[in-house]
Amino acid sequence: MAVREISVVCAVDCLILLISFLIFPVQMLKGKRVIITGASTGIGEQMAYHLARMGAHVLITARTEAKLQKVVTRCLELGAASAHYMNGSMEDMALAEDVVKEAKQLWGGLDMLILNHIGYTYFNYFDGDVEYIRKLLEINFLSYVAMTVSALPMLKESGGSILVVSSTAGKIGIPFVAPYSATKFALDGFFSSLRQELIIENINVSITLCILGYIATETAEKTVSHVMQKPGAPKEECALEIIKSGALRKRELYYPYTIVRIALLIRDWAPEFLDSLTRNSLNVENVKKS
Ligand SMILES: NC(=O)c1ccc[n+]([C@@H]2O[C@H](COP(=O)([O-])OP(=O)(O)OC[C@H]3O[C@@H](n4cnc5c(N)ncnc54)[C@H](OP(=O)(O)O)[C@@H]3O)[C@@H](O)[C@H]2O)c1
Ligand SMILES: *[C@@H]1O[C@H](CO)[C@@H](O)[C@H](O)[C@H]1NC(C)=O
Ligand SMILES: *[C@@H]1O[C@H](CO)[C@@H](O)[C@H](O)[C@H]1NC(C)=O
Repeated sequence: MAVREISVVCAVDCLILLISFLIFPVQMLKGKRVIITGASTGIGEQMAYHLARMGAHVLITARTEAKLQKVVTRCLELGAASAHYMNGSMEDMALAEDVVKEAKQLWGGLDMLILNHIGYTYFNYFDGDVEYIRKLLEINFLSYVAMTVSALPMLKESGGSILVVSSTAGKIGIPFVAPYSATKFALDGFFSSLRQELIIENINVSITLCILGYIATETAEKTVSHVMQKPGAPKEECALEIIKSGALRKRELYYPYTIVRIALLIRDWAPEFLDSLTRNSLNVENVKKS
C-alpha cells in the first residue's frame, strides 16, 4: 500500500512539474547567463538542472569542488549553453566578487544572479554563540550584498534580475533558528529597500525575494525532519518556481504558496495566534537542548 501511495504522489508531483513547465515560457531563459550560488546540492543544484534544460549558461558555486564538477557535467548533458563552477567559501568576500568577475570574463555580461547558499545551520535553542552569528551574517547576508554590488553594473546593462532565496524564518519568528532567522530578515530589509531605490531611479533590474517553507532537501531533512509534522515540499518544483518568479520579475515568491501566504496574512493581524500556531506545528519535545 505504501509503495502505491508513494508512486501516486510521485506521479502527481511529476504531472504538476510537467504542467508548470508547459505553461511557463521556457524560451525566456534560453541563452541567458546565470550565476547560481550554493548549487552543489539541494535547491541550488535543482535550479542549475532546470536552467540547463532551458539552454541557459550557468556558473555555479559552493565549497565542495567534487560535487560542483558532477553538477557541471550533468548540466552539460541536460543541454546547458555552457556550464562552469568556482569553489570556495562565501565567508570570503573576495570570492563573492571573483565569481562575478568570472562571469564577466566568460560571458561579458550577466542576466540573472541567484543568491541561494547558506552556511551551516543548527536547529536548536539559541546557544549564546555571538561569533557564530557574525560568521553566519557574513555567509548568508554580507556575501549576498557583495555579489549584488559587483554584479549590478552588468545587470543594469542587460535589464537583469536578482533572486534572493529566503525563508518563512525571514518573515516570521520561528523557534530554534534564531541566528539563521536574523540573516534572512536582514536580506528582506536590504533587498526590499534596494528594490525601491532601483524603481525610483528607473533602473531595470528586478529583485525577487523567495519565501520558502519546508523543502525536502537532504540538509533540511537531516536538520529538522524529527520536529516537522509533515514532509517537506519537493525541491525540483521549488527550484522551478524560483526560476519562474525571477524570469517573470515578481516582487516575492511564496512556496508552497497557500501555507506560506496564509501564515503571512495571519502574521499581520493576529501575531500571537500565529506564534502559537507555529509552536504547535512543531514536535518541540523532539528538540533536545545541546
Ligand atoms: N530546505 C529548506 O527547507 C529551506 C527552507 C527555507 C529556505 N531555504 C533556503 O533555500 C536555500 C537552499 O537551501 P537547501 O536546503 O537547498 O540547502 P543545502 O542543500 O544545504 O545547500 C546549501 C548550499 O550552500 C553551499 N554552502 C554551504 N556553506 C557554504 C559556504 N560557507 N560558502 C559557500 N557555499 C556554501 C553548500 O555547498 P558546500 O557545502 O559544498 O559549500 C550547498 O551547495 C537556502 O538559502 C535556504 O535558506 C531552504
Ligand atoms: C577548491 O577546491 C580545491 C580542491 O578541493 C582546493 O584545493 C582549493 O583550495 C579550493 N579553492 C578555494 C578557493 O577554496
Ligand atoms: C527591462 O528588462 C526586461 C528584461 O531584460 C525587458 O523585457 C523589459 O522590456 C525592460 N523594461 C524596460 C522599461 O526597459
